[in-house]
This record gives sequence, C-alpha cells and structure tokens, in this order.
Amino acid sequence: MRTCMRLIQVLLVVSIVPVARSGDPPGSLNHRVDSLMALMTLEEKAGQLVQVDFRSASPADPVTLHPDLERRIREGRIGSVMNAVGADLTRRIQAFAVQGSRRKIPLVFGLDVIHGFRTVFPIPLGEASTWDPELIMKASRVAALEAAAAGIHWTFAPMVDIARDPRWGRIAEGAGEDPYLGSLMAAARVRGFQGDTLASPNSLMACAKHFAAYGGAEGGRDYNTVDISERTLRETYLPPFEAAVKAGVGTVMCSFNEIGGIPCAANEHLLREILRQEWGFDGFVVSDWDAIPEMQPHGFAGSPEEAAYLALRAGVDMDMEGGAYEAHLVSLVRSGRLPEETLDSAVRHVLRAKFALGLFDDPYHGASADRERRAILAPSHRALAREVAGKSLVLLKNAGGLLPLRKDLQSVAVIGPLADDGESILGPWSGAGRSADAVPVLEGIRRKVAASTKILYARGCGVADTSTSSFSGALAAAAGADAVVMVVGEESGMSGEAASRSTLGLPGVQEQLFEAVLRLHKPLVVVLMNGRPLAIPRLQEAAPAILEAWFPGVEGGDAVADVLFGDRDPSGKITATFPFSVGQVPLYYNHKNTGRPTIDTVKYTSRYLDGPTSPLYPFGYGLHYTSFAYQSLKLGATRIRKSEGLRVSVDLHNTGSRAGEETVQLYIRDLSGSVTHPVKELKAFRKVRVEPGRTENVQFQLTPESLALYDRGMRKVVEPGLFEVMVGGNSKDLLTATLEVTAE
Ligand code: GLC
Repeated sequence: MRTCMRLIQVLLVVSIVPVARSGDPPGSLNHRVDSLMALMTLEEKAGQLVQVDFRSASPADPVTLHPDLERRIREGRIGSVMNAVGADLTRRIQAFAVQGSRRKIPLVFGLDVIHGFRTVFPIPLGEASTWDPELIMKASRVAALEAAAAGIHWTFAPMVDIARDPRWGRIAEGAGEDPYLGSLMAAARVRGFQGDTLASPNSLMACAKHFAAYGGAEGGRDYNTVDISERTLRETYLPPFEAAVKAGVGTVMCSFNEIGGIPCAANEHLLREILRQEWGFDGFVVSDWDAIPEMQPHGFAGSPEEAAYLALRAGVDMDMEGGAYEAHLVSLVRSGRLPEETLDSAVRHVLRAKFALGLFDDPYHGASADRERRAILAPSHRALAREVAGKSLVLLKNAGGLLPLRKDLQSVAVIGPLADDGESILGPWSGAGRSADAVPVLEGIRRKVAASTKILYARGCGVADTSTSSFSGALAAAAGADAVVMVVGEESGMSGEAASRSTLGLPGVQEQLFEAVLRLHKPLVVVLMNGRPLAIPRLQEAAPAILEAWFPGVEGGDAVADVLFGDRDPSGKITATFPFSVGQVPLYYNHKNTGRPTIDTVKYTSRYLDGPTSPLYPFGYGLHYTSFAYQSLKLGATRIRKSEGLRVSVDLHNTGSRAGEETVQLYIRDLSGSVTHPVKELKAFRKVRVEPGRTENVQFQLTPESLALYDRGMRKVVEPGLFEVMVGGNSKDLLTATLEVTAE
C-alpha cells in the first residue's frame, strides 16, 4: 500500500512540475516564464494584461486603498497599476500581489515621467532645442533615478511622435519635425531611462509612444484622423520608433488614431509586421488609455468584446484602463474565438518584462521612502535641470545687441502674465513636479542682478485675459525702468494632450500689452514661454530682442536669467518651424519641391496671394551673442560610388566678440531619385564652441546610409545620380556643394 501511495506522490510531483514550452535550460528567462505560466489559470493569465489607473480604481484617499482594487489584485486580475506614486504607497499595493495573491506575481507600476519626476526639466520640445542627445540622456537618467526611488518601474516615455503642425498641443512632448534628430533623441531617452539594466533600482522601463503617426492628425486636432501614405509613414513617422527599438526600449504604446481606416490598436501591419517581424521588437505593447474600447466610436468594432478580440489578435498585449481585456479575454478564450496561445504570447511578453525588471527577485525594485527622500530634487539634479534649460533657450532676435543686459542696471521692470509663474513653467506632463519647487523668471532675475538694482514687477494681464484694464501697473513699472523684460506666451494647459489651438498668436490681450509697452521706447526684451511654435510676426518686427524659453522646468527662472544677463551664451536651435501665420500650416523644412516651386513674386507657382510662403523662423534656427561665418565647404570627392562614404568639411569663423557654441547642421538632397524627395534632409550635426576671432574646421563623415532613401519599391537604397550637400547654422542659410553618386 505504502509503495502504491509513494508512486502516486511521485506521479503527482512529476505531473505538476511544468515543462518549459521553449525547451530552454532551467533558470533561463524563457524557462522561468514558461514554468510560471504552466501554473497559472486562464483568469490569472488574462489578469497580467490588465492595467488600471490607481486614481480611478481607488478614489479614496491614497492611505485607504479602495477594497475593490485590493480584491482584484489578490484575485490576480490586475497585472499593472498606473499613477500610484510614492515608495510607501506602491509598496503597500505591491504587497497585495506578492503576499496576497495565489501566484504572487508582482505588479508593474507605470507613470508618465516625460521630462522629469520631481526635478522637472524643460518640455521635450525645449530639450530637443539643445541638439544634445547625450545631455538629454543624462536628464532622463535623473528622471529615472527619482521616479524609481518613488516606486515607479515603467515610464510612458519617450514620446517620439514627429509633429509638423503646431496647432497640435502634443508637439510640446516630442522632438519636433525631423526624423533624424527625433531618432537620436528617442534613443538617448531610452538609454537614459533604462540605463545598463532594467533590474537596476535606478532604472525605469521606457515606452516609445504613440505608435504610430499620432502627430499626423488632420487639422492639428488631437485624436483626429490620420491618412498618410506608407512612404510618409516610413520616411517621416517611423524612424524614431525604430531607433527606440534598436536602443532596446522595453515597451511600445499604440496610439488612439487610425491610419488609413485602421485604428492603431488593431493594426497588425504596424504591431506585428513592422514592429515585431521587421524590427525584431521583443518587449510588450500597451494600448493608450482606453484606445481598445474606443475602436467602437471609431466604427471599427461592434462592441468592447469585439474590440478586445481585435486588439489582442493584432498584437496589443496590455489594456491601459480600457476594461475590455478584464471583462472579455477569458470568455473569448473559453468560447474558442481567441486561441489561448494568442493570449499566452501576450502574457509571455509581459512576464518577460517583469523578470527583466527583476521584480520576481525584488518586487519593490529597491524603492523606499528613505531613498525617495534622498533622490528627490538633489542639488546635482537641479544643477542639471538648469544646464539643460539654459541650453534649450533659443535667441530669436537681438537687434542692436540689446542682450545680454548689464547686471548693474539701476532698475529693471519685469512684467507679463508668466513672469512670476511657477506653474506653467513646468509645462504639461510635469510628472510629480510641484510649482513650489520652481524658480519663476522674476525670482531668477532677482537673484541675478546687483543688490543695487531695483526690480519693478507688475503682471499687466492674464495669459487669456480679454480685458486691458490691468495694463496700467505694468506700464508704470516699464516707464520707470532702465530696461523691460516681458514674459508672455501660453499657459501649460494650452499644450499637451487635448490642447489643440486653431490660432497660433499670443493668447488674450498679451500682444496689446506688448504694443503699449513698445510705445514707451524702452529697451525691451520679450521672453516667450510656450509649448509650440507661435506665429508672432509683429513681435519679430517690433521687439528689440526675443528669447524663446519654452516651458523651461523647475530651474527655468535661473536659466533664463543666466542667458539674459550674459552668464550663458544662448545656443538653442528650434526643431519645429515657426510659421508666419497659421494659414501656412502644416509648414516644415523637409518639404517636397513640387513641379512649381515657390517664387513669391511669380503667380503660377506654389504660393499664397495674401502672405508669405516662407516661415517666420526656419527649422534649426537660433542666434548667439556672437556671430558666425561659414566658409570653404569642401567635399572629400565630387564623385563617389554608391557604396562609398564621403568626408565633408567646412570652416566656422567666429566673427563676433564673445565665444559661442554653434550647432553646425548638414543636409542632403537627392536631386533625381526614382521618387520625389524633400528639398533637404538633416543627416548630421555637430555642436562646436569657437572663441572670438577664431576659426574651427568642422568635419563630417557621411556613410552610404546617409544617402539612402526609400525607392519606388520602398527599399532603403542609395540611388545613383546628383545630390546636393548643404552645411550651415540653420536649414535656410546654407553653403551648398554638388555630389555625383555612381552605380559602381
Ligand atoms: C494619455 C496619453 C498618453 C499617456 C497615457 C497615460 O491619454 O495619450 O500619452 O501616457 O494616457 O497617462
């Protein structure tokens, strides 16, 4: 009898020891994942694909968790929680999973850490204006360190959407209009967030979003229809995502929009053919918030259940707060409509990420209240935020060298609705940022000037005011001062998600305030604080000096003062075109030439009857306190084979009296491809510091990849023919040389 029982015991043990599907060796990642999955019920597997928003799941105050959230976690019906912030809170929630659930699978905690956690950096459109990927990687590293200490494992960043339409409020969150620069910034942010290993307590798993072409919304209106060709998709919108995948991004977020009739949440061409098969992405895909059930209003799914089926089949692994997966996946599999293997594949993607984060070894990922206290707003973090902000500022105009101002002026008037603002300065998507941490411009100027300098402050109006009744205080301050600094622009809520504008001027009565101050004939500097390119031709015409500050973050005031008073040379360059008027939009530098290229004075060419076709400020534009001359553009050869590279050099001469750091930009143009190509495309750039009076020889090495473009068959090839190689300090003022590429 005993032998028989023993035999049964042995059989029982053998039968529940899972056999890894992959056949990988014990201890390998795949073996660990498969072994765990073999022990999970269908409900527990489906639970791994569910992400809930802590705020809506637990409306009670953070201390008393909503009992429903706790129950769902203990039942294994939730795999991820978003928007729960703080080491203590996330540890409490994690304990429900790793101590209270049957399989004890850790949750992954997500948050939008877009441009900083508590140390808030400039908005990404400002960070991109530094043209310094390494610097942005460091900023992302700091954001990861602070957020990870506070219990966050996963950031829904970087946002890598190319944006060519400043009416779209989310242009603030990305790197602007260029695929090459956008790709470098995407990779830098992924490396910064993820560090050397996801298992490090200082790392965040990154998320390239919003896949794809979300920035192509018609009319610049958020969530609107996107209808673009495969060529435009691949040449313009996909490169930053591919760069993020190559940099090892752990997750990708599919976007709300459709492309050509297919919502991205059900777009197998994007999610499986391109992302997985072509690029070899092996992380997991999360939907954007509610994007799965939104297939119903799209008119693409007849029910949330149908939407869940279409999304999982297309390759969306996790449902962000949509409720569709939690409600329908189990029944879709039980009914045989959805093969369990399809669900298992998604679960495998999610569990692999949790193993990679080390959550099965330390479910708390090293987070603690003590670490959080020590990491948040560390002095070195604030110093980096000040450096990034300083390098993001773009000098748009400086007539007569008004800037930099003297620090010992008798008096300076600081006016405008954003002069003493600590809220908007943080920009949209400011993570766990707090306005109390921020240095407004007024404070930055106070700290910068001599003790003897009198500061006169008056707001003058609100950002969106319609009345001019409160101008008098600001005009009095300006009238009584040696110089005037006027801080105008947008509120942060006018940028970011669901913040599209149909006009691009200064909101409210701010331009009237500017005109009134102008009539005082004082030395006047306009500081812009905004989340998008603005159409401000009147300011460009009449303001003596204009400094673009974007939303410069927690150290914005000090950074602006550093530049205004000469402790830092402005070196930023815009990465999105500023139009002359909203009627020109979309307007971007890498446009096609058409068969009737623009000649403003010739009727039958591509032009407007009632305004210019050229932009107010072109892509790559930005001035310095010194000036530069470009001379002697030289090509290593004027004729190369298509398999060869090319050396390009140019002399950069500092013709001014101050040192300056220039961003030397290199563009190419394929003059006769098998399809039409843009009039120019950025292919390289280099930041070069030149002392006054000196000349630096700047060299580039172009590779065949730099000259490769998608041919008629959508193959990336170098086509023989004539090319132009252009070099300069922006996309308009360029030296040009011609290159012939031969077949062999
Ligand atoms: C939002 C945004 C997305 C963000 C997500 C979570 O709707 O589209 O960028 O990461 O929801 O907050």
